[in-house]
Amino acid sequence: MFEEQEKILKEEFPQLLNRVWLNSSAFVPHAKSVVKAMHQFINYIHDPIIGEAVDNHFRAVTNDTMVGASKLFNCKSDDISLVINTAHGLNFPLQGIDWNKGDNIVTSELEFPTNYYPWKYIARRKRVELREAKINEKIQINEDEIIELIDDKTKLVALSLVQFNTGQRVDAKRITKVAHDHGALVAFDAIQACGATEVYPKDIGADFLSAGGPKYLMAPLGIGLCYISPEVVESMEPPMQGTGNYDFTDADWMNREKPYHKGAKRFQNGTVPFYCVAGLAASLKLINSIGIKTVAKHNHSLIEQLIEGLEELDLQIITPHESSRRGVLVYVRVVDKSKDLNKIVEMMEEKHKVTISARFGGLRFSVHLYNTEEDIQKCLVALKDTLMEI
Ligand SMILES: Cc1ncc(COP(=O)(O)O)c(C=O)c1O
Repeated sequence: MFEEQEKILKEEFPQLLNRVWLNSSAFVPHAKSVVKAMHQFINYIHDPIIGEAVDNHFRAVTNDTMVGASKLFNCKSDDISLVINTAHGLNFPLQGIDWNKGDNIVTSELEFPTNYYPWKYIARRKRVELREAKINEKIQINEDEIIELIDDKTKLVALSLVQFNTGQRVDAKRITKVAHDHGALVAFDAIQACGATEVYPKDIGADFLSAGGPKYLMAPLGIGLCYISPEVVESMEPPMQGTGNYDFTDADWMNREKPYHKGAKRFQNGTVPFYCVAGLAASLKLINSIGIKTVAKHNHSLIEQLIEGLEELDLQIITPHESSRRGVLVYVRVVDKSKDLNKIVEMMEEKHKVTISARFGGLRFSVHLYNTEEDIQKCLVALKDTLMEI
């Protein structure tokens, strides 16, 4: 537990006081300040004060979001583009790279569809080779295998920073170094990491790092963040075009010679869902008020406690034990295959008010800043009881 947690629980998450939410890898219940920020924005549009004041409101939430995001990512706000979901950000390299027949994309066979179908599509359309690193018998990605697949024809390496299923965190820095040595770009799907644990895109050498908001960023559905490295911003034209890419701060709408916006903002091609941006500004403020280092430490310590407890049960723990090699979710397989996973999830919910999820032939537990050690103990007791009863 961190210092302000009790206060935050009471003020921001009263709905979680009598239940245990271990499903943040799916989505996060809104904090009160997030709901309030969205309401405020909606009310503003409901009864607008005409003129500049409306624009000021749009600018203010965007500015707050950029300040919050750059603090979280430890980068310049110029390096961040707002996106509506994770796939949106991954489509920047998909559409922006000049693909030629014989080029290749390297990924792994463990990826979520968001980080697979864009590459399958371009492989088909442009006769590009899609190379998928195999997973090993422990359902883990072996970085050596990924590195072996990278060569001078590789244009893009696309991986999840933390896998949605197993919770494995790849050694991103090692992979980006090799990719860059071969002239390839690297795009990360970071939705299972951002907001829950430390993610500094510049440090890991990401060219693109995209994360939808509704999971650990604790934001509304329909908004997210994409880091784009300054080198890419300079070298790649934004593939999706509209008014938003260009610097129309002076509202000189008939000007046909406008320059691009400075930085990653030029990848935003039009109006974004501002109601959601207002919510994202509030959720980033909440995370940053605690500090991502503290949030990450808290989450990792709960996961350690959870793993220790799960080891006592008849389960196979797939998630790597080493904290630097995982995110803040744990994935297990139930050894007794006759047990119905959906039924387990249902019983945990109905009888014990503990929310987890069934995924990928196993059970997934994920924590965030509102969880406590008591939550973990309640979950372990509930799971033991459920596995015996079912
Ligand atoms: C790894 C991963 N990527 C992406 C998504 C969602 O993609 P999008 O934000 O584009 O809807 C999920 C959702 O579960 C996910 O787990």
